[in-house]
Amino acid sequence: MAKRPSDEEYLRAEELRNAIRYHNDQYFNQDAPEIPDSEYDKMLVELRALEDAYPTLISADSPTQRVGGSVSTAFSPVRHARPMMSLDNAFSDEELAAWVERLVRLTEAIDAATLGFSVEPKVDGVAMSLTYRNGRLVQAATRGDGVTGEDVTANVATIKTVPHVLNGDGSELAELIEVRGEVYLRHDAFAKMNERALKEGTKTFVNPRNAAAGSLRQKDPTITAQRPLSFFAYQLGEVSAGALAMPKEQSGVLAWLKRAGFSVSAEAQKVKGLEGVLKKCQQLQAKRHTLAYEIDGAVIKVDDLSLQGQLGATARAPRWAIALKFPPEERTTKLIDIEVSVGRTGRVTPFAVLEPVFVGGSTVGVATLHNEDQVALKDVRPGENVIVRKAGDVIPEIVGPVKGGSRRPSKWKFPAQCPSCGGPLTRLEGESDTYCTNLDCPAQRVQKIVHFASRGGLDIEGLGEERVVQLVDAQLVSDPVDLYKLDVASVAALERMGEISANNLIGAIEGSRSQPLSRFLVGLGIRHVGPVAARALSSRFVTLSALMSASSEEIGAIEGIGPVIADSVVSFFSNPANASALDRFVASGVNPVEPVVANDIAQTLLGKAVVVTGSVSGYTRDEAQEAIVRRGGSSPGSVSKKTFCVVVGDAPGASKTEKAEALSIPIVPAERFEELLQSGEIPS
Ligand code: IVH
Repeated sequence: MAKRPSDEEYLRAEELRNAIRYHNDQYFNQDAPEIPDSEYDKMLVELRALEDAYPTLISADSPTQRVGGSVSTAFSPVRHARPMMSLDNAFSDEELAAWVERLVRLTEAIDAATLGFSVEPKVDGVAMSLTYRNGRLVQAATRGDGVTGEDVTANVATIKTVPHVLNGDGSELAELIEVRGEVYLRHDAFAKMNERALKEGTKTFVNPRNAAAGSLRQKDPTITAQRPLSFFAYQLGEVSAGALAMPKEQSGVLAWLKRAGFSVSAEAQKVKGLEGVLKKCQQLQAKRHTLAYEIDGAVIKVDDLSLQGQLGATARAPRWAIALKFPPEERTTKLIDIEVSVGRTGRVTPFAVLEPVFVGGSTVGVATLHNEDQVALKDVRPGENVIVRKAGDVIPEIVGPVKGGSRRPSKWKFPAQCPSCGGPLTRLEGESDTYCTNLDCPAQRVQKIVHFASRGGLDIEGLGEERVVQLVDAQLVSDPVDLYKLDVASVAALERMGEISANNLIGAIEGSRSQPLSRFLVGLGIRHVGPVAARALSSRFVTLSALMSASSEEIGAIEGIGPVIADSVVSFFSNPANASALDRFVASGVNPVEPVVANDIAQTLLGKAVVVTGSVSGYTRDEAQEAIVRRGGSSPGSVSKKTFCVVVGDAPGASKTEKAEALSIPIVPAERFEELLQSGEIPS
């Protein structure tokens, strides 16, 4: 009997999965990360440890089961000829040494000291796959989830350092050549872009990586063309047979790429043994801030390509390469004060007000301190100097006070009253967070509305925090439902608002009435319900009223929804205040539904999860999955206990069939796929 997780462990895993999914979405799809990479990594490590200890916790859609990003729908999907993998990370020389030791063991390399490596800067940008046919650029695709990326050819074709035609003639060039590398922004280009954004009043970017990602995501390539993007090539992907003299070493690949017309980082170097690797990494780290572009580490690759082949890869990353992550940059500045802000759930978060300091590529003036215990633990006191760091080079973080002077200012005390409504603040026994429990608190009202209107929610353009504060202060709205009662005249009467802006805002609010149920659910801010859960709930129940009358069991039976989410949804709807707010939504004509893909096909697989492994004759993988989805089913990438059946075709994945057998899930041979689609039953 497998060990079972305790309730607490179960809940923690669910909490971690939801948090990781949310932050994946922020990072990969919204280009707006909210937490440092290090914090994200910590959550992933904790979740993996839980899942390793209790394999029953692994759900098909757990973020541990995929590389990272999901595929956004704005650009057409591209299936990579070979998966674009991640790299394993090392954070210290010791971890690097252990990696080299393992390589030597695995390859039985005769002489560890002379084993060749290519050490390259880890440029912080966006991974890109470029396909050349007969020497001409035909496709550029992002990494996406590693298996399927997005077609961004038109945008990438505007990058000056991406050759449209490769150097060399037909006898040298293979018919198909895939080049992989990084699209990035130089520091000077990034600064210019943000200056321009400031001038034009458009969104500025937190760092060069996000700016590059945002530029690639433009629907209009002429906009991308105005962004000064660059490209470094660092790898060959799929290359068709028959090419003459392709390199046999990674260092040779880099030289080949240069001859073919690509930019290759001048910092890349071939070295020998662990000693050579460590020396080169130290050099790179020392140079880090003098380079023209952002690097967040070094990538170390076994130089010999046949050894690479021998070492192979795990499901996530190759064994022949590793990324050494550099520690984040730190700076000293004065902590002017500690203030608190109130979130939509009433949670009160302390944050540091700093004398502005330039660290990790941008100027920092505020940094979160998370909660009361963190302030005490870090022992930072207003008036003192503190160390600031950009963890993951995105989110500023206070490391601690600069120790020195003997007379320290007094400790900061958490306020007893809410800065917004003046009500008492409570911190429950055993909890680390402090709350304002006054449901009428204006700050909470504002944040609830801001969340409702945010990009992940109803996506109401022009309704940011500043505007919501104005509307709440003017007593025009006090909750999200009130938005639908606003009229142009009263909005236009607000300060800094004209007739045109008021018209636009009301137009955007009106437009949000037809947003799908899934966005509405995200906007409501139900605990544990992020975009993924909201979509699962909405495609199953389609209408708000159907979802509201569903039982916890019915909800929990949905693939990807656990008991914690199910209970949270049910308790949200059974709360009288929420129920009456929803009645008011319906009364004001907001009654969202989830659009069902229009088709005449019988919904034989409604609510059933069918996993496909191996190739099914007559279908591509996408077509097979689409056939299932069009019949109302879902086709997740891995097997769980909620899987209805597994369709096994040619060259199936061993893990899926094994897992199906272990869980006694029916297996359907590919020849019976049609029967399954037609009847929705397991063919006997
Ligand atoms: S090799 C399977 N080389 O780092 C090997 N990656 O965490 C895949 N990166 O997705 C990549 N500089 O975006 C490689 N010289 C370099 C790199 C590099 C930056 C990025 C790349 C990749 C990520 C891996």
